[in-house]
Formats: sequence, C-alpha cells, structure tokens
Amino acid sequence: MTPPQPSECPERKALSEHCKTLEGVELRDLFRDDPTRGERLAAEACGLYLDYSKNLLTGETLGLLLRLVEASGLSARIDAMFAGEKLNTSENRSVLHVALRAPRDAKLEVDGRDVVPEVHAVLDRMADFCERVRSGAWQGHTGRRIRNVVNIGIGGSDLGPMMAYEALKHYSDRGLRFAFVSNVDASDFAESVRDFDPEETLFIICSKTFTTLETLGNARTARAWCLAALGDEAAVAKHFVAVSTNAEAVAAFGIEPANRFGFWDWVGGRYSLDSAVGLVLMVAIGPDRFREMLAGLRAMDEHFRTAPFERNLPVLLAAIGLWYNDFMGAQSFAILPYDQYLWRFSAYLQQLDMESSGKRVDREGRPVAGETGPIVWGQPGTNGQHAFYQLLHQGTKLVPCDFIGFARSLNPLGDHHDQLMANFFAQTKALAFGKTAEEVAAEGVPDSQQPHRSFPGNRPSNTLLAERLDPATLGKLVALYEHKVFVQGTVWNINSFDQWGVELGKQLADRIAPELSSDAALDHDSSTNTLIERYRKLRA
Ligand code: F6P
Repeated sequence: MTPPQPSECPERKALSEHCKTLEGVELRDLFRDDPTRGERLAAEACGLYLDYSKNLLTGETLGLLLRLVEASGLSARIDAMFAGEKLNTSENRSVLHVALRAPRDAKLEVDGRDVVPEVHAVLDRMADFCERVRSGAWQGHTGRRIRNVVNIGIGGSDLGPMMAYEALKHYSDRGLRFAFVSNVDASDFAESVRDFDPEETLFIICSKTFTTLETLGNARTARAWCLAALGDEAAVAKHFVAVSTNAEAVAAFGIEPANRFGFWDWVGGRYSLDSAVGLVLMVAIGPDRFREMLAGLRAMDEHFRTAPFERNLPVLLAAIGLWYNDFMGAQSFAILPYDQYLWRFSAYLQQLDMESSGKRVDREGRPVAGETGPIVWGQPGTNGQHAFYQLLHQGTKLVPCDFIGFARSLNPLGDHHDQLMANFFAQTKALAFGKTAEEVAAEGVPDSQQPHRSFPGNRPSNTLLAERLDPATLGKLVALYEHKVFVQGTVWNINSFDQWGVELGKQLADRIAPELSSDAALDHDSSTNTLIERYRKLRA
C-alpha cells in the first residue's frame, strides 16, 4: 500500500498546532523557568556530548517530534538498511555503507550474499598497499621512492577523503605530500602537481563509476604528465592505481587489475569515505589509524541501531533539524566546527546532506507535500565570527547551527585552545540570549545607537563536545551525520540515496562540449546561443 503523504499524518498536524503555541516564547524564559534545562536537554553517546538545550523547543516539542519520527516507520527502516534491503528504489540498490565498518565476524547480506568478507579482503589489500607506499617498498618506475600522492576524483570520490585527510592531518606521514585534484579546470591539476617530481608521484584515480568526465579528463592529463617525463608506458603500473567498482573501465584506461581497489554498487558516492575511496587517507594516516576511524563509525552505527530515540544522537539531531526546516521556516543550516582541522567538514556535509535530501518527489514519485532538505553551509568557527556571524546574530534569517568543539587541542600552544573554546561557548550563549536594549542602555550607550547594538537572541544552536579530534571521533561524527540524513529522508519519505538531479547538466555539457570548438549553427535557447557565440569569438 502506498504510504500517506507525510503532510497528512496526525503527528505533523499536532506539531503545526504546537508551533503556534510557542510564538513569542524566548530561550531566556525557557532557561529562567527551568534552571536544569541545560543539563536535561542533553545526550551523550560514544564520547560525543550533545547539548540541545539552546533550541527553540520544549520537552513537549521534542516528544511530538519523536512521535513524528516513530510514525515514519524509522525502526523498520533502520532494520531494513542493516538487512541490506534495496532502499535505493530508483536505482534498485541496497544501502549498506554500514557494512564498510562491520567487524570481521559480522554478517551482512546483499541478495543473500554475505558482503563482510569482501569488505575485509579489500581493506587488507589496501593496508598492504599503503604499508608498501609508506615504507618505500613501492617504488616509482625509475626506482625512486614515492613522495607525493595525488587523489583524482570528484564529489564523494574527493570530498570525503579530502575532508578526512585534512581532519586527520595531525596523524599523517609528513614524509609524504598529498594533493586532491577534482575540478576539470586544468588549473586544479597544474597547481597541484607544480612542485611534484613525476618520478616520485603516485596517482590514485578514484571514481565509483569510472565514467565521470572531470575525473577521467584529469586522469588522462595525469598520465600524459607522467609519461612525458618517464617516457615509457610501463610507468603507468607504478604511478597509477584506481579505486572503482568498474573493473572494465579501469583496465581500458591501462591500470593493472592488481592495482584496482574495488567497492560495490551498494555504497553511495557520498557514503564511501570508509570504502576503498579512503585509500589516500589510509596512505596518509596508516592502516591502524584508518581502522580506528572505522571503529568510530561502527560505534555510532551501533548506537543508532540500538539506542532509544530520545537518547539517540542521530535521531535527536534529525528531529531538531526537522523542527526548524518543516515547521519554523528555516531555509538553511550552518555547521560550525571550532577546530581548524575540520575546515572542509561543512563542504563534505554539504554533499552528504544536499545530494541526499535535495529532492522534490517522494519515494513513490509524487511531489512532496512540504519542505525537504535545507541548504547546508559553514566554515570553521572563529573565522566565521569575523565574516558571516553578523547575520547569525542580527540578521533577519533563522539559521539553526551545529557547533562542534573539542576539550583538548592537538597543538597545545600557550592559551590558544582556551581562547578558541571561550569563543565557542560565548557564541552559542550570545546567539541564544542576546543583549537587550536595557542592557545596552545600562552600559551608557546613547538611545540612538541602542537598536544597532542590541542583540535579539533566541537564535538556536546545538553544541557537540568531544575530548579531542582523533580518527575514531571523526568516524563517529561522520556516521552521526550520515544517519541524521537517513532519519530525515525517512520522515520526508524521499529516496536519500539517488541523485538524478545531477544528470541533466552532464548531458547538456556533453552536447555543448563539441560545439565550443566548431562553428556549426547552434540550436539552443537565445541566451545559451548568444553566450556560446561570444565564447567562440573570445577564445579565438
Ligand atoms: O555527479 C554526482 C556524482 O555522481 C556524485 O554522487 C558522486 O559522488 C560523484 O558524482 C563522483 O562520481 P564517481 O565516483 O562515479 O566519479
């Protein structure tokens, strides 16, 4: 039976009604009326502490939100995901990224076949390869040691490993240099390899499909760059490895089957960081650290699968996000890590969330009745404070934020870390409680300036606090947001695992590419025709 549209469910109606009752309620009041709110509205799991008390909600709101989540059939969906059911219906695929971090003795089946042994076989091959590169046993074509590793990939084949490499750089082998080439713009490749010696450079061509235009274009350029210096086709075997599900295309490119690290169609690109797509990361931090990251992911999977919803971190984050997105009219959601190593975390989450939840039809193909995924954005904390926080504090938009911070610095220098964390705590407090006109006046500020210098407050945030950023903690954060996205997709009844919205642009680019270097008549709309004609003239 086709499920009812989410807008028709009584839980959603109850929340809409409840929302009206909260009009005019201030966080100041909520905290004043309940002195224990800051301790009560919090949850802890796997070493991550979530304070959600600075949100525009009450215990009743949360209860209603959790009822909405329950009514969506989340428990059954979680079981179905872990059982390898084909939740990605439009592509007829299982969604089993949780198998990538399953322990060796676990059993997870796709089409009746246990995939865990294959996962570990690839992990073992990756580990062996990484040890050879890191130890110098893997040599380039001329016998030189590899000193530079370049990952060529885009989307999930770039953002995940690049974010994680940056996040865990502290743990990386500093005898190796790493670069990430993603853009088809040649400047990306040219600048990335500018200081690299081809004799010491290894390319990882990372593409699930091995058909992606940007990646294959960059891979061909890399091969030409390498062969121009080394002058021998045989060099490809020593300087190129591939990460892909497409064995044939990898072989056709000239990469030896033994140098391909595979994964499976049940791993979505944006959920693939912990598959062979993480090869570059494993080279950087070593197999043991990589396995620590997998253990962190697994710990969060177990928490998600077993914890009651009211203490389940992904469910809580999802429910709170739904509140702002579906009922309070928020259009975006900001992710604000107070850790420089997480400087690419929001870019990574942008793909994870927006490619998963940017959908306008439900799983049955009907137009969705309400809002789906928000715009996700953000930057590391204190830099953002001197850039866009103005709008967060005094602008007209509602922007719920997740603040992420750590108790211990990986680079303890002077009082930097306490300064950083003082800002971390100060910002959520300022957003929540603001500064009234009376408080501003009490500081002797003239009347005319009070509107400019007062802060309305009532701006919501979650705070995530952990001890320190290490591989396991990064794994927990990644799984936390993966599952949050899954919960929200379940409530919206959308397919979080396809991405048909990227196809039209690709098709049109394929059509336009040959037109740019020809003078054949154009048959587009008048804007596109005029722009292409101008481009033709300028490039000539
Ligand atoms: O175009 C979008 C997309 O399909 C993403 O979903 C994916 O992560 C990216 O392209 C790269 O795809 P591939 O790994 O197949 O090159």
